Amino acid sequence: MTTPVIAIDGPAASGKSSVAKRVAGQLGWVYVNTGNMFRMITWAVLQAGIDAQDAAAITALEPSLRLSFEVCDGQMTARINDRLLTDAELNSPGVNAAVSLVAQIPTVRARLVSEQRALVTHGSLVMEGRDIGSVIFPDTPHKFYIDASEEVRARRRASQGLSDAVGLRDKLDSTRKNAPLVVPQGALLIDSSELTLDQVVSHVIAALRQQGIPS
Ligand code: CDP
Ligand code: CDP
Repeated sequence: MTTPVIAIDGPAASGKSSVAKRVAGQLGWVYVNTGNMFRMITWAVLQAGIDAQDAAAITALEPSLRLSFEVCDGQMTARINDRLLTDAELNSPGVNAAVSLVAQIPTVRARLVSEQRALVTHGSLVMEGRDIGSVIFPDTPHKFYIDASEEVRARRRASQGLSDAVGLRDKLDSTRKNAPLVVPQGALLIDSSELTLDQVVSHVIAALRQQGIPS
């Protein structure tokens, strides 16, 4: 039997991390934040003094980056070269500004496709990102796309005290050639602009029940 995966995709600050974390908590499944993996690689690129537009230098650096994963408190924890990054490092203005450029680079995406698919060895997953239902696990029957208007999302980010040009990242993420942000085929689309987090989680849990989860 294949390990079940719930795929949650959507643009920046749509609420996918908060929703995925709560759904995973309710089901007792492992929560996986794939955006943090792109952020970790971006942090390493910036630490190495490489420009985020320098695809050749990033491609040369990539094989030297060691990624390791373990489940802690129901969440997939990732280390880069044995270093666990803080939330402040992962969400710094520098990383926010560079991550969508680094995420376009084919070697970076190829590396993370295989790393993310391999995580099923850790158990049933609730995985969120941009290409989970379209590329990483296209065959899963449990797909969600969480959206919200750009205005609402910019407001959510600002109220988290973070400097983040969400509109610019959305544009880069939606227009890139390789694994762009799309509503995956078969995904349930939830517009969270006017919904609380609790309401979005209830929608997702109700849909999962209809799909036989929890079994
Ligand atoms: O939390 P937020 O939506 O702001 O971003 P994130 O999920 O941490 O992702 C950061 C960036 O990584 C995105 O803007 C994408 O450029 C990239 N990403 C991706 O390309 N594919 C994924 N599965 C997840 C993130
Ligand atoms: O992972 P993503 O970037 O899509 O969003 P998030 O980090 O889960 O959510 C961004 C912020 O919006 C958090 O502070 C959430 O609590 C908030 N939020 C909200 O106020 N209402 C919702 N329906 C969803 C998220």
